[in-house]
Amino acid sequence: MSVLRSVVLGCGSYLPERVLSNQELAAKVDTTDDWIVQRTGIRQRYIAADGEVTSDLAIQAAKAALASAHVDAQSIDLIVLATSTPDNTFPASAVSVQAGLGITRGAAFDLQAVCSGFVYGLSITDALLRAGGYKRALVIGAETFSRILDWNDRTTCVLFGDGAGAVVMEAQQQPGTRDDRGVLTTHLRSDGRHKSKLYVDGGPSSTKTVGFLRMEGRAVFKHAVAMITDVIEDAFRTTGYTAADINWFVPHQANRRIIDDSAHKLGIAPEKVVITVDQHGNTSAASIPLALNAAVKDGRIKKGDLVLLEAMGGGFTWGSALIRW
Ligand code: ACO
Repeated sequence: MSVLRSVVLGCGSYLPERVLSNQELAAKVDTTDDWIVQRTGIRQRYIAADGEVTSDLAIQAAKAALASAHVDAQSIDLIVLATSTPDNTFPASAVSVQAGLGITRGAAFDLQAVCSGFVYGLSITDALLRAGGYKRALVIGAETFSRILDWNDRTTCVLFGDGAGAVVMEAQQQPGTRDDRGVLTTHLRSDGRHKSKLYVDGGPSSTKTVGFLRMEGRAVFKHAVAMITDVIEDAFRTTGYTAADINWFVPHQANRRIIDDSAHKLGIAPEKVVITVDQHGNTSAASIPLALNAAVKDGRIKKGDLVLLEAMGGGFTWGSALIRW
C-alpha cells in the first residue's frame, strides 16, 4: 500500500564571514586553545556581523537549499524555522524568511526547542506533509547565539557560534516499506524538570530583557549521552534497523566527546559519524543541517543512504530522526 513520505530534495547552509578562532578568544577571556579543543573539539566559530540577524542567515541557507533541490521558492507552501534567537520577540522570524524569499502563500512559523529545534522541526514538518495539507516545505535551523552569550563567562562563551542550515522536503508517494525514501521515523522527548541546567536568564515575560545563556555544563554532559542513545534506540525499535544498517550518523554538534561517547555506546562505527563541531562550535538548531550539508556537498551522503539524526538541548529537549536520503 503506497503512503505519503517526506522526502528530502536538497539542503544548504550559511555561515557568517567572521571567523573567531580559539586563539583569538584566548586573548580576550581566561582560556586556552588546548582546553577548548580537549574538552569540546571546537577550534573556531563564526560570528554574525553587526546588523546581520537570524533571518538573514536563514534566508541564505534557504536559498542554497532551494538551489540544491532545483526547485523555485514559489513552490514552497510551508516554512518551519527552528531558532532560539529570533530577530524579534514577535513576529516569527520565519515570516521574514518567507518575505525575503518572495513567498506570499502558505504558512511560516518559528519553532523553539533550543538545540533539538531542527529535529523537532523535521518531525512537525513530516507530520504536516504526510497529513496532506502542504506539499513542499523548508525546514531551517538558524541561530545568532553570539547575541545571547555572556562574553565574560568562559564556561559558556567558548562553546557556541552563529550559522544556519536548511532542507527542502516534499510529500511523495512511496511504497510504504522501511526501504522507502524520506523520513522513516522521528521521536521527540522533553523533561522540563531540567530547565535550570541550561537556560537564558531573561525574556519578555520575566525580565523584559533578552538575557544571557547560563549552563551547568557538567550536568548537561551527564544526561546527554543517556538521553541521546535512548531516543535513537526508539528509532531502531520502530523501524527494525540497527546501528550496522546506518550509513551516516549526523548528530547535533555540541561537543566532540558527547558525539564520540554516544556513537560508541550505540555501536556506530567512527567512520560513519559526521563531525563539523570543530569548524563552527555549537550552533544550536543550525548544527544538524550544517553538518548534513557538509556531508552531502563532499559526496559522503548519497541518495538512498540511511541517515540517523539526533539532538539534545535546553529544556531538556531531545529527539531522533531516521531518514532515507
Ligand atoms: N577555559 C579554561 N578553563 C575552563 C573553561 C575555559 N573555557 N571553562 C571552564 N574551565 C575550568 C573550570 O573553571 C574548572 O576549573 P576548576 O577545576 O579549577 O574549578 C575546570 O575547567 C573544569 O570545569 P568543568 O565544567 O568541570 O569542565 P568539563 O570537563 O565538564 O567541561 C564542558 C566543560 C565542555 C562545558 C562540558 O561540561 C560539556 O561539554 N558539557 C555539555 C555542554 C553542552 O553540550 N551544551 C550544549 C547542549 S545543547 C543546547 O541546548 C544549547
